[in-house]
Amino acid sequence: PREPIVLGIESSCDETGIGIVAGRRLLTNTVSTSMDEHARFGGVIPEIASRAHLEAMIPALDAALDEAGVGMDEVDAIAVTSGPGLSGALMVGVSAAKALAVATGKPLYAVNHLVAHVGVGLLEDSASAAGDTESEASLLSGLGALLVSGGHTEILKVSDISGDVTLLGSTLDDAAGEAYDKVARVLGLSYPGGPAIDRAAASGDPRAFTFPRGLTAAKYMGTVQDPGSHRYDFSFSGLKTAVARVVEGLEAHDEPVPVADIAASFQEAVADVVTSKAMLACTENGIDTLLLGGGVAANSRLRQLVSKRCSEHGIRLVVPKLSLCTDNGAMVAALGARLVQSGVAPSGLDFTADPSLPV
Ligand code: KG4
Ligand code: ZN
Repeated sequence: PREPIVLGIESSCDETGIGIVAGRRLLTNTVSTSMDEHARFGGVIPEIASRAHLEAMIPALDAALDEAGVGMDEVDAIAVTSGPGLSGALMVGVSAAKALAVATGKPLYAVNHLVAHVGVGLLEDSASAAGDTESEASLLSGLGALLVSGGHTEILKVSDISGDVTLLGSTLDDAAGEAYDKVARVLGLSYPGGPAIDRAAASGDPRAFTFPRGLTAAKYMGTVQDPGSHRYDFSFSGLKTAVARVVEGLEAHDEPVPVADIAASFQEAVADVVTSKAMLACTENGIDTLLLGGGVAANSRLRQLVSKRCSEHGIRLVVPKLSLCTDNGAMVAALGARLVQSGVAPSGLDFTADPSLPV
């Protein structure tokens, strides 16, 4: 039988994404973002994001079908992110998907955004060219995922991508990317903060400052020996505050702020704690393959450290291409195609957007 053609819609944060796949083959991945409109606020403003989705949705749908050379009549199913994410933003995508499903009579699948970040690894050629990656075939079982973005920070255990996914840990406060964005602001760097800090850190000393590794007991870099409670959870608000204190202290004494050193030390703290906890989760849960996802996967130090630690622990690392790590519609379509092929029943029209949808 022909591979199912699935159209995926993503609108959980500030990216309006439409992806179209034929089974595991990517036909198109159209993303438009309202990031620039949030820049002067230093973070995503939900109302602005919702309005931007409304404006972008129909043109994005048209562009995606056009690019893929696919007519709506050839599409076998529609998939949409129903959560977690920003309520108003999600509602735009869910409404568009339902309208499309009603108008065309195509089956509709509501998918979880976090699981879709993992599902993107099913696509052929999804792996980045970095060389430290493994193929999509390894995604079928015993998989862990470390998702780090501006909106979420989680460790997942994926026993079966079509229905058996467990949340092992998540952030209790800020997301990792959010911490990057807030620290960048404190350091006077541009938004989004991740790329700016990454660049600044290149010429800094990661050992210049020792910043806290949230929810760990280890006081030194490299190993989280006793995570105590919240074993696989994260906290970045203490780290953000620690950086702010250092900067305030220096400014109060009219001393220069060593931006590069602070950026490098902050980046080291984030990379250290997320990779340590990911290793802990993998080794304690029989996970032998780890997928890295989310916008913070672009971070150079994180990539380096996760790769080093995975090889030390004998864990295979899967890092999708960056365009597939950040929020996009292809991941939703890829997971949708998987659900179709697994014989999972469509969701119908009764589901709603759920900002805190569990995995
Ligand atoms: O996945 P994404 O595009 O959107 C969501 O937030 O869901 O992730 C964006 C986040 C932002 O917080 C941005 O600062 C961060 O990813 N980011 C980075 C880097 N590039 C983007 N963080 C660290 N280092 C980077 N190179
Ligand atoms: Zn995301």
